[in-house]
Amino acid sequence: MIELAPSLLAADLLHLHGEIGKMLENGVTRLHFDVMDAHFVPNLSFGPGLLKAIRLAFPACRLDVHLMMDEPEKYISVFADAGADILTLHREVLPDAEKALRAIKALGVKCGLSIKPGTGEETLFPYLDQIDNLLVMTVEPGFGGQKFMPDELEKIRRLRRAGYRGDIAVDGGVNLENAPEIVKAGANVLVMGTAYFRAEDPAGVARAVREMA
Ligand code: DX5
Ligand code: ZN
Repeated sequence: MIELAPSLLAADLLHLHGEIGKMLENGVTRLHFDVMDAHFVPNLSFGPGLLKAIRLAFPACRLDVHLMMDEPEKYISVFADAGADILTLHREVLPDAEKALRAIKALGVKCGLSIKPGTGEETLFPYLDQIDNLLVMTVEPGFGGQKFMPDELEKIRRLRRAGYRGDIAVDGGVNLENAPEIVKAGANVLVMGTAYFRAEDPAGVARAVREMA
């Protein structure tokens, strides 16, 4: 099954309750929540307070938290307590990824690792049997609305060839036009910010993803 994970960054920030409510009505239950610290990436976004408010208002929503921050291991319990269902940390800033993955799982949360365009997929190989979610970035992290980098898809093919069977999510510039090649490469989760929340017909986007093989 191919799953859509709309990225909150592109939602109408003054009407988040309505935006998330509509997303659930459209049959989409996985919300991608970007955390940015102005160090690991040159931007600031959302924190645990907002995550917790969403958790309380929408118990059926699965919160897929993407930590784009330095020293993410220090915030594992903060975001787990705030209601994360999936916590994905960047490989580039994790000296001891194994320890971080264990800490996430011990809190009953699904764990993930992410790589930026400049980072090779081989840095993930030692952890493939411990991960629930791999997040391959197809833009430089930090901002929504950037152009998709198709060369990154080769990493997905290599990760599947290495035997990884868990979720592979693709994040950055994903839309209905490039979705088929992303899925063909072996990904099964499509993170869409602009292409979902700024679409004329988000329900139609959700339907199109559901109908993908
Ligand atoms: C970028 C974020 C993405 C972003 C994607 O650093 O991690 O989740 O919201 O936005 P689009 O789909 O517009 O590229
Ligand atoms: Zn993201």
